[in-house]
Amino acid sequence: MDKILVRGGRPLSGSISISGAKNATLPALAASLLTTGHVHLSNIPHLKDVTTMVELLGQHGSAITIDDKLGVEIDNTNITSFRAPYDLVRTMRASILVMGPLLARYGQTEISLPGGCAIGSRPVNLHIQGLRAMGAEIELGGGYIRARAKRLKGTRFTFDPVTVTGTENLLMAATLAKGQTILENAAREPEVIDLARCLIRMGAKIHGVGTSTLVIDGVDHLQGCHHAIIPDRIETATFMIAAVLTRGDVLLTNTCAEDLRNPIDKLIQMGATIDELEGNCIRIRCHGDINAIDLETSPYPGFPTDIQAQMLVLNSLAKGTGIVTETVFENRFMHVSELQRMGADILIRGNTAIVRGSTRLIGAPVMATDLRASASLVLAGLAAEGETLISRVYHIDRGYERIEEKLRALDADIQRVSG
Ligand code: EPZ
Repeated sequence: MDKILVRGGRPLSGSISISGAKNATLPALAASLLTTGHVHLSNIPHLKDVTTMVELLGQHGSAITIDDKLGVEIDNTNITSFRAPYDLVRTMRASILVMGPLLARYGQTEISLPGGCAIGSRPVNLHIQGLRAMGAEIELGGGYIRARAKRLKGTRFTFDPVTVTGTENLLMAATLAKGQTILENAAREPEVIDLARCLIRMGAKIHGVGTSTLVIDGVDHLQGCHHAIIPDRIETATFMIAAVLTRGDVLLTNTCAEDLRNPIDKLIQMGATIDELEGNCIRIRCHGDINAIDLETSPYPGFPTDIQAQMLVLNSLAKGTGIVTETVFENRFMHVSELQRMGADILIRGNTAIVRGSTRLIGAPVMATDLRASASLVLAGLAAEGETLISRVYHIDRGYERIEEKLRALDADIQRVSG
């Protein structure tokens, strides 16, 4: 199994291009099931999770061509299977996103329950409750969700808590339902907005995009479209934090500062200099001390939970003590024990991490446990003295495209080693 070897202590410098957003690509791929028209998606990241979703669509009968310009063309004129099997779903929970489209377009689907993962139990009860509210007959048994619906009907549904993929599943289902659907307390993440824009390009009638109340007037058919996936804000933030903790000077291109207001404000508070430049570029520099900050994760536009692990590393290296509270997932501190092995001084109290700063991190062999935790271990390695060898890097490859190549382009001493 591949490992990543990092030798710390080098300030990052140079420029890299940000890839398309994983969490916008996955729902857009699933949305293609809503039409027999050809859907062309561009700016697709080359990631394991995207490959898994393409494989799942292929099992349904999708004909998918991947072009050499980071694009995919999906032809769903011959969907023959409505089943998402356990062996695929267990590797990627976002497979649940085919449930809404298959039910709306074909009236039937059989999806393996995703089960939990390292960061939490990750229930899908709201996906199921919402589709039942739209008239679907849904049975659970043998680890599968079996759903039937002659034609979904519009409903009013309130999410509690806010759920990103729950919002996306019901949004997609509602586009072909009979009548109007109102989704309240809907997720407002940029990836949800991007999905809505893709659906509108396909002919969907959606109002309230970007707000917590989405109003969808169902139509009888949707057509194909061309859609460019938005930049990955989590990748952007991860590299911004890497620049700050190595006291570097980095230019990130093909990104979108507008989707990162909260993290940008936090990094400026800590002492970073951030310039938002023409042409979707961000320059981030930091040459002096950084100050620890307190933060609490919450649904967009709050501080993203997907950047919490990375900020723990930055707080460890900052002056003072930072209190980090995780409110979205119940077990998203798996990275802490590995960071402690590198010398981080972090105390966990329930869903709060008390991070004492000004720590000297020392390189060590560490193990990745989930996607964003593994990114935080790479960041810690960049700042640590000596070598850090990260195992189970398949977690990283799920959400970061060629992370070691991009960091090497920024003058980091990092390589992928097999064995
Ligand atoms: C999406 O996951 C993202 N994944 C996650 O990114 C991200 O961390 C998360 O949203 C929060 O922003 C994709 O978009 C593919 P949720 P999702 O449903 O939709 C509870 C990454 O690193 N909940 O918004 O699965 C749930 O337990 C990944 O790229 C229910 O109770 O997350 C959690 O506490 C990790 N019932 C909260 O909602 C439900 O039916 C938010 O989860 C659904 C969710």
